[in-house]
Amino acid sequence: MLILLIVMLLGIAQAQIDPQKKEDIDTFVEEIIQCRGKVGMNLAIVQDGTPLYTTGYGYADLENEVPDDGATIHAIYSISKSFAVTLFATVIEETEISWESLIADLLPNFRFPDEERNKGLKLKDLLGHVTGIPEGLNAPYDSKAQFLDVVQCQDPVMGMRESFCYVDKNYYIAGAILEHLTNQTFSQLMQDRILTPLQMNSTLPSLAQRFNESIGKWAYGYRLTNGELVSFRTPGKKGEITETLEAAAMGVLTTAEDMAKYTTFHLGAYRNDGSFNPVVDPEILRKMYHPNQAINFFTSFLEIDGLDDIDETWRVYDYGMGFWSGNFRESDFIQHGGIGYHDSLLTMFKQWNLGIYTSMNGPNGIDAHATITLIHFYIADVLRGNTPVYDISYACDFTLPEKHGTFCGPFNIHPDHRINKTRTPTFSIESYTGLYEDRSAKFKIKVDPNTATLVMAKGCEEYHLYPSGAPHAFVAQSTGECFGCTKRIVFNVSHEARLIVDFSSVNIDGDDFRNAKTRRTFGRRPDV
Ligand SMILES: *[C@@H]1O[C@H](CO)[C@@H](O)[C@H](O)[C@H]1NC(C)=O
Ligand SMILES: *[C@@H]1O[C@H](CO)[C@@H](O)[C@H](O)[C@H]1NC(C)=O
Ligand SMILES: *[C@@H]1O[C@H](CO)[C@@H](O)[C@H](O)[C@H]1NC(C)=O
Ligand SMILES: *[C@@H]1O[C@H](CO)[C@@H](O)[C@H](O)[C@H]1NC(C)=O
Ligand SMILES: *[C@@H]1O[C@H](CO)[C@@H](O)[C@H](O)[C@H]1NC(C)=O
Repeated sequence: MLILLIVMLLGIAQAQIDPQKKEDIDTFVEEIIQCRGKVGMNLAIVQDGTPLYTTGYGYADLENEVPDDGATIHAIYSISKSFAVTLFATVIEETEISWESLIADLLPNFRFPDEERNKGLKLKDLLGHVTGIPEGLNAPYDSKAQFLDVVQCQDPVMGMRESFCYVDKNYYIAGAILEHLTNQTFSQLMQDRILTPLQMNSTLPSLAQRFNESIGKWAYGYRLTNGELVSFRTPGKKGEITETLEAAAMGVLTTAEDMAKYTTFHLGAYRNDGSFNPVVDPEILRKMYHPNQAINFFTSFLEIDGLDDIDETWRVYDYGMGFWSGNFRESDFIQHGGIGYHDSLLTMFKQWNLGIYTSMNGPNGIDAHATITLIHFYIADVLRGNTPVYDISYACDFTLPEKHGTFCGPFNIHPDHRINKTRTPTFSIESYTGLYEDRSAKFKIKVDPNTATLVMAKGCEEYHLYPSGAPHAFVAQSTGECFGCTKRIVFNVSHEARLIVDFSSVNIDGDDFRNAKTRRTFGRRPDV
């Protein structure tokens, strides 16, 4: 009986990290923080089913010289997506729905603009980022219901399952679906189904309580502005946008100690090693680790310059639901990062039974992301007894390429900052106004009296038009949050004589819309 008790106690105790390996890891991370000018980082390592090491480095609060440690709260951003997928697994376990359920069935009042998507798009497509919904929506929203309305009248940016296109909005929809299916708030679901069962007592389900001093010790965010470190301390906002929509895509705030518990849970399910977890049947979860679609355009998020052997040592080649899949040396892994005021990364090595989590609090950006990625592979090598592929001189010296991997197939979802708003149009802006239509859509083009710019509206979408420089051509910029879905607008001149012009149609991103005016109206050249 006594022996059994001792065995049980040992079984739940944290394993001991080898002191030499601990020193190697600590030295490496501390040197990187120095040489790359970082602020702080937290770290959790899980090995063979138990937390091995949780700690922090550098500063959580640089101004007040508060060190980062394993109990400091960091943001994990998009690692949160795997929490949302895990919640779906719990709903699947207790209801009739499945990963194959149609989105239109899960959210009965929600309709995509096209029937193909209503009849075809499944939950696994939403969580696997192949819906074709753009990241930026062309109209503002400030509630869950308004958000869903805007998505419903938004043109997709690609065909159904045409390509992988990583978009946070897919997970906003996921948050709304979870609340609809369970009639519980996303926060409550997180609490009841993940945080309480795993005893993640220091984790918050959304950014609403960010930097609330009475909750815990915070790692503030830092960014570089004109060479100076500037801290980010803006408190979170309450409300549906933060607590339902963003929460499912990027909301979790947590400590290294809690992430060790979360990692232990997922690593056991990923490895299919029969380990018990108090959350959900791992058989259901395993679909989320399965590659869903080949990401053939995507070699590596970072493609760090000068790393010639990248393909031999480390690849990310696919996405499941809430996790990328890849391999490093001879182990498969699943991984997800997060980008925001902190940069985070969670990697679970299957054959090595090893999980590593980090979140770095700045300065934020691609350099921080590259740094923590190298830290993960260094730690894996040290714990495996390998000579690290990325040693300290590599980690301190690497430079980032000008461009890094895209998240969205062949489609440009990045902002077009090149719009020149000072140009004057070929003719007076009033000349271009009118109603333009084809069989299925109508665009109204008018002058905004406040800004004296051309405005184009289609359903809930609204754009400002700026002359592109070419005759009668404009670029359209959404008045919503849409970035990169800039449209090219060219008016077709059917008649031009002296100072008068008549437009028979307008071409918007390759599609023609006829001028609906029955009587011809004529534009005039501006008096310039
Ligand atoms: C959903 O929850 C609300 C508030 O808890 C309750 O008033 C309502 O009856 C519930 N609806 C359903 C369908 O369970
Ligand atoms: C978390 O909270 C529960 C319930 O209050 C408590 O029983 C448990 O000991 C706590 N766990 C940790 C690790 O603090
Ligand atoms: C901060 O957290 C405390 C403890 O949970 C809570 O009582 C308080 O309302 C929170 N403050 C704000 C501004 O939300
Ligand atoms: C914008 O257009 C104006 C007028 O054509 C031109 O003078 C100016 O140089 C342009 N600005 C940029 C940044 O290209
Ligand atoms: C442009 O207008 C002319 C005259 O109305 C028409 O014949 C032609 O098809 C139009 N072109 C486009 C691309 O709409």
